[in-house]
Amino acid sequence: MKIAIIGAGSGYMPGVIRGLLHRAGSLAGTELAFHDVDAAHLDVMTRLARTMFAARGASFTVTPHTDLKPAVDGASYVFTTFRPGGMAARHLDESIPLAHGVVGQETAGPGGFLMACRSVPVLLEIAAAVDPGAWIVNYTNPTNIVTDAVTRHTGANIIGLCDQHVGDTEMWAGLLGLPFDRLEVDWTGLNHATWAERVRLDGVEIDLAAKLETLEIPGGGATPWRDPSRMAELGKALGFLPNSYAKYYFFHDDVVAELRAKGTTRAQDIMAMLPDYYAQVAGEADKPDPDPSRERGGGEHGEFAVEVICALHHDEHRREIVNVPNRGALPDLPDDAIVEVPALVGRSGPVPLTMGPLPAPVRGLTQAVHAYERLAADAAVTGSRRLALQALMAHPFVRSKHTAEKILDEGLAAHAADLPQF
Ligand code: G6P
Repeated sequence: MKIAIIGAGSGYMPGVIRGLLHRAGSLAGTELAFHDVDAAHLDVMTRLARTMFAARGASFTVTPHTDLKPAVDGASYVFTTFRPGGMAARHLDESIPLAHGVVGQETAGPGGFLMACRSVPVLLEIAAAVDPGAWIVNYTNPTNIVTDAVTRHTGANIIGLCDQHVGDTEMWAGLLGLPFDRLEVDWTGLNHATWAERVRLDGVEIDLAAKLETLEIPGGGATPWRDPSRMAELGKALGFLPNSYAKYYFFHDDVVAELRAKGTTRAQDIMAMLPDYYAQVAGEADKPDPDPSRERGGGEHGEFAVEVICALHHDEHRREIVNVPNRGALPDLPDDAIVEVPALVGRSGPVPLTMGPLPAPVRGLTQAVHAYERLAADAAVTGSRRLALQALMAHPFVRSKHTAEKILDEGLAAHAADLPQF
């Protein structure tokens, strides 16, 4: 069996390597084709993987590639985990909307739209290159828009991943005083716009509304990914669990003020730490038993992707929260919408579980975000400026034609080299 990893020079790879090691038995003898356009980063991660696999007796072979076709030829699974344009492009995605009073974020809102315009053409190229019947297991953001574009505009199989729900479940377990590893949460909606009305502890549904009512709102403690204080405030207002990205919708103007006051974008912060990070990983790669202690993305990132590949390959029918065509799971959204819901993943792909109506307070918001995502996917595929403008006007962060036009003009000009379709 062969697995191709596109974006294998990514800082997230140490976590993916650990994920592969966890399932080394189920994937014994697998050929791993590592692909990246950055040959130096690819070399670091190839060396790290080879020494970690050898030290732990895993029977994987690793071949590095800078050309796409030989990497994906013969692969049953093509795991995509790259950021088109890298952190420099992400900085533009985060700063251009902010200059116009709109949250600048790499996946949500206009920043995510610009990223989609760069990601989608590359994913369409990958979809055209993979073997018939292969599965694209996609982490490249915005994962929902990328999954939608590939699903509707190519014949390739794709499953969209995001591990956000793992960290959000852990945060909520901490807030509600529940044991994280015994919880099952029905996160439903769209990627980075999911909600949960049902939480089970050891399979028994808890009274979430009552728990939220007595929850005390903690102070501070926000990280780049999680803001427990605001999440608790929102959870109490809604009576169900919001995902972390809800803060961008329900505290939009406060977040804009904070991002402006901070002065640097998340991309700039990461760019400042990446040289040290790669140096540390490269240093580990040459040790007999490497164990990089610093990881981008955290353990759940790589493990989740490998678990999904194993579920597909071994027909495990395991429940995983993935991005998949709706097929009635959420009756408030079209059947062909790409939704993020629990699904049973087996050889024939993910089968979404019926989740029922979205909670009333966020139903309209989720439908509006879906309308935006669909327009964004079509704009990213076709390069239509009209669809692009409509997408931004439809997004709940924007709602202003003139603001949408300014962000779009600046964004398309700034990224022109990476947008062959426009
Ligand atoms: C979360 C999101 C991902 C995103 C990542 C960025 O995990 O779910 O979609 O890519 O954050 O993390 P970073 O450390 O690059 O800001």
